[in-house]
Amino acid sequence: MKLFALFVLALICSTYVINASITLESIEEVTADFCPECVSFMDESLQTILNIILNGGVIGGCDELCSLLNQSEVITTLCNLACDAVGIKVFIYLIQKADLDSIWMCEECKLCPVKDGNATIISTDVQPKSGPAGTTFQLTMIYQVTEETGTGTVEVDIQPIDGMPLGDAELIIKQADGSYKITWSIQTEASDDDPWGPGKAEVDFFVCDGECGSKHAHSKIYSTATNYFTITE
Ligand SMILES: *[C@@H]1O[C@H](CO)[C@@H](O)[C@H](O)[C@H]1NC(C)=O
Ligand SMILES: *[C@@H]1O[C@H](CO)[C@@H](O)[C@H](O)[C@H]1NC(C)=O
Repeated sequence: MKLFALFVLALICSTYVINASITLESIEEVTADFCPECVSFMDESLQTILNIILNGGVIGGCDELCSLLNQSEVITTLCNLACDAVGIKVFIYLIQKADLDSIWMCEECKLCPVKDGNATIISTDVQPKSGPAGTTFQLTMIYQVTEETGTGTVEVDIQPIDGMPLGDAELIIKQADGSYKITWSIQTEASDDDPWGPGKAEVDFFVCDGECGSKHAHSKIYSTATNYFTITE
């Protein structure tokens, strides 16, 4: 388990002799990065915390709220890190405002970096272009970060011809300028939710600042592109 030490001040001084001058070699702030942990914690717990608040369960501080989750020590500690960063009053306000946007919540609680950045999708590809139900399709997106990002997401959404939409979103944190390639695969085995009948399935790719589709600050679709695959008879 990682140590939950947020700020570690490292002072490395040269050895010195009394009356001699002291030279500071370096001073740095080392910030442990709990952004991915915070986002998955919020994904799991935001709704539960909201319910606790709405049920009037919080009369004390962060400790009390976080202990009401009845979760493991790691989860409780993450909850406390996020809550203590802003204080119980602001935390409760934010939870109610969050619209279940985990990234925005973690940014507000200072556990995820905020930077608006920019990125553009260069190309997308779907392979194979067509196949019968049961085929595994590879969905690939190449995008260019043109200005370093803060916390964002790369997402793919699939709209089957006759079933429930499917999708996946992955966190991107502080991506530097450059080209990135991401590949998903989707297995089109027929199920009740997705019978994968014959026809064209739409595949939408996104690169976003924050959570795609969020209306909060520091949230924006940088770029989107559409591709297709066809389920044959
Ligand atoms: C945690 O446990 C308490 C006491 O058993 C219970 O009242 C509360 O509803 C539980 N909280 C959750 C989120 O399950
Ligand atoms: C982001 O990049 C796109 C494409 O290069 C450009 O059109 C757009 O103006 C940029 N947005 C910002 C906020 O810089």
